[in-house]
Amino acid sequence: MINIPRGTQDILPEETKKWQLIEAKLHELMKLYNYQEIRTPIFESTDLFARGVGDSTDVVQKEMYTFKDKGDRSITLRPEGTAAVVRSYIENKMQGLPNQPVKLYYNGPMFRYERKQRGRYRQFTQFGVEAIGAENPAIDAEVLAMVMHIYQSFGLKHLKLVINSIGDIDSRKEYNEALVKHFEPVIGEFCSDCQSRLHTNPMRILDCKVDQNHEAIQNAPKINDYLNEESKTYFANVKQYLDELDIPYVEDSNLVRGLDYYTHTAFELMIDNPDYDGAITTLCGGGRYNGLLELLDGPSETGIGFAFSIERLLMALEEEGIDLGVENNLDLFIVTMGEEADDYAVQLLNKLRHNGVKADKDYMERKIKGQMKQADRLKARYTVVIGDQELENNQINVKHMESGNSETIRLSEIVNFFN
Ligand code: HAM
Repeated sequence: MINIPRGTQDILPEETKKWQLIEAKLHELMKLYNYQEIRTPIFESTDLFARGVGDSTDVVQKEMYTFKDKGDRSITLRPEGTAAVVRSYIENKMQGLPNQPVKLYYNGPMFRYERKQRGRYRQFTQFGVEAIGAENPAIDAEVLAMVMHIYQSFGLKHLKLVINSIGDIDSRKEYNEALVKHFEPVIGEFCSDCQSRLHTNPMRILDCKVDQNHEAIQNAPKINDYLNEESKTYFANVKQYLDELDIPYVEDSNLVRGLDYYTHTAFELMIDNPDYDGAITTLCGGGRYNGLLELLDGPSETGIGFAFSIERLLMALEEEGIDLGVENNLDLFIVTMGEEADDYAVQLLNKLRHNGVKADKDYMERKIKGQMKQADRLKARYTVVIGDQELENNQINVKHMESGNSETIRLSEIVNFFN
């Protein structure tokens, strides 16, 4: 038997219903904020992520599904959406569109070769937004407000929004130098990943899962002390908007994100439930990326966005015991007795469906009892039994399954009964 690849999952029909509900709600929420959907390819040139996400990140170093196509091009299954959306923005010259900023969202599969665990897959579905073309603390606040709105609209309560500013490119450079100086004398005590990060990406040491209790991490220099005036003011303005919008947040100066393109506002939405015992607590992550467009040979526009996986949203819903209220909404199951009635039902079904009635019948030659059971299993709202007598008299009993009540109507009136 050939099994499903590790870290992937089949989403079976009962589960798919939840996905459809979630996705429908997300599309509606996006309309409230005036974001429009963009769909980019599942694969891109490897260079896009190497440059955009950053050569020294775990994503690029260890997690990408990269292969050569038959034309000898290096191709990568997208590990995230931002670089691809920015590529598309540049390629389609969206900076020239009359509506600015350009507010986009996406929803689709992403691929990372990661260790499988609850909430972590090798193929997962990211829902993300990107607002490109405005460098304005109010748009940062809008994006943060959206994150909270989305999660709260599903009824989730145990949430913690963690924010930080990692400053502009100059502040970050200075901070990185300070970190190298701080960690250099003790780096031998750190894991091999951190040792190799010291000169390529020292900020990531702060985020190390292995050595997070090391004294040098606890007393490492804080980014706040390295923010220049401009970065400080920008961050203060973002926080002021959050306060005005009554959005609770905590500041964490050790919050650094795993991708290289971030500047200024960086954030994560975490599960905040003392009873939760899963290893993964981050539901959603995002931030501002002021240098990314230029890094990808685009105009000097800036952007901000976030992404979360539907898988982690479902995990959070399950943790809080939230039922999405998925309904099986078959309107009618037709039970038939005899060949003539069965033939009639085939045509009747066709007519009902063309009139917007969700209906089905038996195809397994079940006895009446079996057909009724099938109607039950399908949670049909109504059933009718059609046999020779019903055909002859043009009369049927429409039975409401939940109450057990039934109503006699003319067979020829059945479409009207449902409309
Ligand atoms: P990220 O933090 O790498 O950021 O991923 C964002 C979210 O994607 C995570 O918080 C999590 O919900 C989900 N995710 C990531 N990896 C996995 C996985 N292996 N299995 C399941 N879910 C996963 C980004 O990707 C940025 N592009 C976000 C962004 C958009 N920043 C600005 N704009």
